[in-house]
Amino acid sequence: MDRRRADGRPDAVPLTRILGPPDRRREVDPVAGPDRAVRVAVLGCGVVGTEVVRLLTRQSADLAARVGAPLELVGVAVRDLATPRDAVVDPDLLTTDAEALVDRADVVVEVMGGIEPARALLLRAIAGGAAVVTANKALLGQDGPTLYAAADAAGVDLYFEAAVAGAIPLVRPVRESLAGDRITRVLGIVNGTTNYVLDQMTSAGLELDQAVEQAQALGYAEADPTADVEGFDAAAKAAILASLAFHTRVSVDDVHREGITAVSAQDVEAARETGYVIKLLAIAERVTASPDGAAPVDGVVVRVHPALVPDTHPLAGVRGAFNAVFVEAEAAGELMFYGRGAGGLPTASAVLGDVVTVARHRVQGGKGPIESRYADLPVHPIGRATTRYQIRLRVADRPGVLAQVAQAFAAHDVSIKAVRQSPPVDGGGATDLLVVTHRADDAALSATVERLAGLDVVDGVLSVLRVEGA
Ligand code: NDP
Ligand code: HSE
Repeated sequence: MDRRRADGRPDAVPLTRILGPPDRRREVDPVAGPDRAVRVAVLGCGVVGTEVVRLLTRQSADLAARVGAPLELVGVAVRDLATPRDAVVDPDLLTTDAEALVDRADVVVEVMGGIEPARALLLRAIAGGAAVVTANKALLGQDGPTLYAAADAAGVDLYFEAAVAGAIPLVRPVRESLAGDRITRVLGIVNGTTNYVLDQMTSAGLELDQAVEQAQALGYAEADPTADVEGFDAAAKAAILASLAFHTRVSVDDVHREGITAVSAQDVEAARETGYVIKLLAIAERVTASPDGAAPVDGVVVRVHPALVPDTHPLAGVRGAFNAVFVEAEAAGELMFYGRGAGGLPTASAVLGDVVTVARHRVQGGKGPIESRYADLPVHPIGRATTRYQIRLRVADRPGVLAQVAQAFAAHDVSIKAVRQSPPVDGGGATDLLVVTHRADDAALSATVERLAGLDVVDGVLSVLRVEGA
């Protein structure tokens, strides 16, 4: 229905849509416009929130022109009023009463992080008819469906460009620009901290612990770097991307996750010697599997793990804390997105882009996309993924050993592409083998590794790394 008035401004939409349930209706003019500012509440004033406030303040004239109405920052919710803040933050706007602040806003920007109270505050904002913008991938990865459902039911916008890959426009291209195509794969580096750590291990020869300490000193990694180095952050982002790309609900619990804590300096060196670099990759792909010989079923596999990438591949050139993501779609082909995946100002750029979009919707009418989950594909376990592998083994250096190792691969239908033997170790009684496979099922490879580990001639499986992009 056309909601434009004769003067070209949008007509008021029904109060129940704008203001939410009767018990939470606010006594406000529902339609912002040149005469009525769009009231913006910011929840959180840390690394990202401070920069959101800075952009809202410094660019207010441009933002008003782009939106068609001024954006009025009505408050900034924090945990502790005594914490020193950047001078750009007006102390009079700070509050610890986030609920009251939410109730006064047309647009609520959540950059506080964590699950609660962020979830309750966003649901309150949505129920009250406010549009919401969040950078909170942990919350979306864990409980996105609750937020999508609430936003869809209330008819309000839920935008989250900053939740995946910081400044890089990635959510919108996947959610909107590629909505007419069929995405087959999303693959990339979505965690800046671990990319910095692996890059330092590769370029400066650091051990993992030393590189993590350096990342902390530079402010990339937090005091507790678990979410980054154990792959939780990347897994949440992978779940969000997979949900959008495949029109299917994927939660962080569906994502196979391995962090980088098992990557050693020796792995990095072995990778270098064979023309690879190690990257923590997030991969979401459409697969067709035939479980137990049954008819083929379309599904998705979503995984986060360290992988070998050829040193000539564009992902190998992604240095420091940068992110880069490839999206493969049937009609569009391969697309690459690259840029800063973290940091206050880059992330604030993505947040402000969303704020302008949802504010425009309030002024000019219209609404962003609702959750698309019609495909409802099954999420398969990692065992159904297929890729190539590089396995390092320490074995006895005597006749017949290679034959036994080759037999273990053959027994699980895993085809060997190349084998390289290092000079003798342990005084000559042992040697290291590096085995590279052709494409194989992850389940078959796991069974092979188990069999290898049980062979008398194998002293140890030193590492198993998937090979991507080759
Ligand atoms: P910070 O820890 O720097 O800031 C969090 C802010 O939220 C602080 O101002 C804190 O208040 C406030 N806060 C926390 N809990 C509460 C609460 N219960 N009530 C009121 N205020 C609260 O986080 P970041 O800015 O780094 O991250 C914010 C969000 O953005 C997270 O979801 C994160 O995952 C996401 N993100 C961050 C990126 C980055 O590079 N940092 C990149 C992309 C996304 P106080 O200051 O008083 O402690
Ligand atoms: N901790 C994240 C990273 C930044 O290192 O990429 C927020 O997404």
